Amino acid sequence: MKDFNNVTIFNHPLINHKIAILRNENTSMKEFRELIEEITTLMTFECLREGVPTVDVEVQTPLELCTQQMVKDNAIVIVPILRAGLGMVNGIHVLFPSARVGHIGLYRDEETLEPMEYYCKLPKGIEEKLVLVVDPMLATGGSACDAIEKLKQRGCKNIKFMAVIGAPEGVSRVAEAHPDVHIFVSTLDRCLNEHGYILPGLGDAGDRLFGTK
Ligand code: PRP
Ligand code: URA
Repeated sequence: MKDFNNVTIFNHPLINHKIAILRNENTSMKEFRELIEEITTLMTFECLREGVPTVDVEVQTPLELCTQQMVKDNAIVIVPILRAGLGMVNGIHVLFPSARVGHIGLYRDEETLEPMEYYCKLPKGIEEKLVLVVDPMLATGGSACDAIEKLKQRGCKNIKFMAVIGAPEGVSRVAEAHPDVHIFVSTLDRCLNEHGYILPGLGDAGDRLFGTK
């Protein structure tokens, strides 16, 4: 895959360790869910290094008065792509419990692999917020592109996208279509198979999170 300046691939030993357990077909639903949340929290730490609305506040320490930066109240909206994106929400809420949540429901047509929209509910004022779009799997990139386009049509200007596992095809597609959106991916896998599944991947993230298979 070519280099994009709007793509960050973590490849961090701590995250890689958790991904090894996540990939294992014998990992239980409970552990899978916990790992997705933990990885999301670790990713959020880096994802929010730039572009986060902050304010300076005065704090009286036991020694002196100082000025300290804080994240602005109500500055972040999380947008999971249903269903599997739901598994990442708590991983961000641990850090920002008051973050609002918008939902975009998409499923991939099994034949065409095209995303089909079935739900969209976004918080009022989302246009002014930092929007974190989350989905564990970035495969062809169709779902991510659709969700980002929908948010842009709504007027959102500050969007970041987080996925746990990305395929080169999908990461390139989103990075090229949306150069203004920074894409954070824990790990870049090899390729897609003929059914649009990521290899080596972890299977169907939604089914493993919710026990539907
Ligand atoms: C999965 C995954 C992404 C999408 C990725 O969802 O959670 O949303 O596929 O594939 P793409 O990059 O090729 O669009 P799926 O459509 O299986 O729905 P689900 O989350 O309800 O299981
Ligand atoms: N969606 C998944 O859940 N897994 C894949 O490998 C590709 C799309």
